[in-house]
Amino acid sequence: MIQRSAQAMFKLSDEQLQQLLHELQQRTGITVETPRWLLEEYLGERSAELGMSSVQGYLDSLKDDLGSRAEWLALVDLLTVKETRFFRQPAAFQQVRQEVCTRAQADTIGPEFSVWSVGCSTGEELYSLGMVVEHALRDSGCATNWHGIGTDVSFGAVARAKIGRYPERSINDIPLAYRSRYIRCEDKDQYWVCDRIFNRISFFHSNLMHVENAPFAKFDIVFCQNVLIYFDRITRLHVIDQLLTRTRAGGLLVLGAGEDIGWHTDQAERISQDGVTTYRKLGGFENG
Ligand SMILES: C[S@@+](CC[C@H](N)C(=O)[O-])C[C@H]1O[C@@H](n2cnc3c(N)ncnc32)[C@H](O)[C@@H]1O
Repeated sequence: MIQRSAQAMFKLSDEQLQQLLHELQQRTGITVETPRWLLEEYLGERSAELGMSSVQGYLDSLKDDLGSRAEWLALVDLLTVKETRFFRQPAAFQQVRQEVCTRAQADTIGPEFSVWSVGCSTGEELYSLGMVVEHALRDSGCATNWHGIGTDVSFGAVARAKIGRYPERSINDIPLAYRSRYIRCEDKDQYWVCDRIFNRISFFHSNLMHVENAPFAKFDIVFCQNVLIYFDRITRLHVIDQLLTRTRAGGLLVLGAGEDIGWHTDQAERISQDGVTTYRKLGGFENG
């Protein structure tokens, strides 16, 4: 977090602020809620580092398509809200567990089961899903292989997620039954997600604004929580449509309460419960 400093001398005019927020919105879909003073501090520090003395000089440098790419990524990294924790919305994880157990018992799971954490931040959400899926499959005596993919627009968040190491205060959010099986304490205040989970999970940088180009196959569970709340309604509807195209027939699209914007489709049935907005894609069970 940037502290207030002499760099607060950097001032954006209303027009420059609007232009910047508009451009950020176009690139990431998100409506940035960073306070103006913090935005000015960040831009002030960055332009000083880059040897630029004027606001306009810095803003102009963001316009050059090739050279500005890294700078945009740095801005996006700073301005996206990355708050997350293990098992953040317990009812959603309970629904995933129930889904895996039910399908394992009904023998509607194929040899591969896949999960996508959309807007995965620093990885806690996908590792939680991994623990739930692994536990439910083995509890059901099912030998199915599973794998999980996490994607986020923040390179910093993805880099941290890939490490799979967390401090004790984060680990405390994990229910004991999962913590004792899947978390290892290697050192004081350093906890690792065990290999049984870690080795089945991958993280990638990917921007939901270009979700239709993401080179991913279809998933049995598409899990998107606390991401679309920062998008405008039209973008949300478009992204949810795209997420459904990436959901296998019979699979679940699990959205957070904030993602629920009265989206309707004739390709999925809404099966919401306990504050979780979930859709099951119609068309039987498509197995991997
Ligand atoms: C508040 S966090 C939620 C993390 C996790 N899903 C959870 O519920 O705990 C929102 C995440 O969405 C990511 N995000 C925002 N805009 C995005 C975009 N256009 N494409 C992909 N990820 C995005 C942010 O970088 C951030 O990590």
